[in-house]
Parts: sequence; C-alpha cells; structure tokens
Amino acid sequence: MRSPIQALPAKIFHWVSFISLFLMITSGLQIYNANPVFGGREGIHLPAILGLGGWLAGGRHWHFASMWIFSLNLLWYGIYVVATKRWRHRYASNKDIKALLVGQNPKRKNYAWHRLVYTMIIPVLLLAIYSGLGMYKPAQFYWIVDSFGGWDALRITHFLIVPIAISLAALHSQLGRKVGGDSLLDSMFWKNAK
Ligand code: HEM
Repeated sequence: MRSPIQALPAKIFHWVSFISLFLMITSGLQIYNANPVFGGREGIHLPAILGLGGWLAGGRHWHFASMWIFSLNLLWYGIYVVATKRWRHRYASNKDIKALLVGQNPKRKNYAWHRLVYTMIIPVLLLAIYSGLGMYKPAQFYWIVDSFGGWDALRITHFLIVPIAISLAALHSQLGRKVGGDSLLDSMFWKNAK
C-alpha cells in the first residue's frame, strides 16, 4: 500500500490537540480533586498522579493558560477547513450512515465508523469550550448555566467531557489503524507532510 501523506495544517492540528487536550484533562482533574462534583470535599477523589498543577490554584493556572492554546487551535483549524472546503467531503454524511445501516461491504463500514467517530469529536470539543465558558464567567454567561439546567448539571457535563474525549480519541486512533494501518497513524504524527 502507498504510504499516505498528510497536509501540514492537519498534522499541526493533531499535535497541538494532543498536547493541549492532555494539559486540559490533567489540570481539569486537579481542579476536580479540590472539590469533587461527585460528593463534595469528602466525595470521590481521583488519584493525585492524574492531576497537573499541584494544588487548586496551580491546576486553574494550567487550565486557563492551556485553554487559549486548545481554543485557538480549534478556531484556526475551523477557518482552514472552511476556507479550503475540506468540510464538504471530510466529515460523516448520509452516505456513511447508509453504509452502516444497509451496506454489505465491511471495509466501507469500518471507514464509515472512522468518519463518524472523528466527526463526533468536534461537537464534544466545542461543548468543552461552551460549558467551560459558563463555568469561567457564570454571572456574565448566566444563560449558558441556564441552558444546562443549573450549576451542578453544568459541572457534571464539563467533567464528563474527560471520559468522552478520551474514549473518542482512543476509538479514533484504533479506527484510523483499522482503515489505513499503522502507516496512516504514522503519517499524521511522524512522517513528512505535503
Ligand atoms: C477538552 C477540554 C477540557 C477538559 C477535558 C476540561 C476538564 C475540566 C475538568 C475535569 C474540570 C473540573 C470540573 C469540576 O470538578 O467542576 C474543569 C473545570 C473548569 N474548566 Fe475545564 N476542561 C476543558 C476545557 C475548558 C475550556 C475550553 C474552558 C474555558 C473556556 C474551561 C474552563 C473551566 C473552568 C472555569 C473550570 C472550573 C474552575 C474552578 O472551579 O476553579 N475548561 N475542566
């Protein structure tokens, strides 16, 4: 099979996403541990090794600094995808849903799952920003808090982004492997770009 070559912006987006997501998740877990949304101070704590920042204020500094990298990365990539019209053929469409529901070709089905999973990651990342903004400025963005039905539901939703983002990222890399082999994964992170 010919080794795939990825566009440089796609590679940069993947690298920055990988690093900034790692920082957002670990600093978020540090904040969580200071006052767990599940059970309060005496509630369910996570192993301290998963946290970044050492204590609440350290975790918040990391979270809010990485937030800029994470959000701006998503923003420029969104502009790139629209400007280059990649959005027209890159994301899951009715054809993929049809392939999954009535298709007979197992290869096409894997490909459809692959497209569906990476397409789903985008709204989850946008939800992280939307819910995070509501937690950051709850007085100014009270309507964001209201849209979740209240503060606790907002916190729980924001927290749930951690397991959901990790699961989707793991699925995404496994499906990428299934569809294009190790060389597809390598081409996104290590090999030369177009
Ligand atoms: C995928 C990206 C993100 C992940 C995985 C993540 C994860 C977390 C986690 C686990 C917490 C602790 C939740 C709690 O116990 O209440 C948290 C808190 C928080 N996050 Fe995020 N977050 C992400 C993105 C963002 C973004 C983009 C913003 C801002 C726009 C943001 C703003 C906040 C705020 C304000 C808090 C509460 C800080 C505090 O109470 O001191 N987060 N985050």
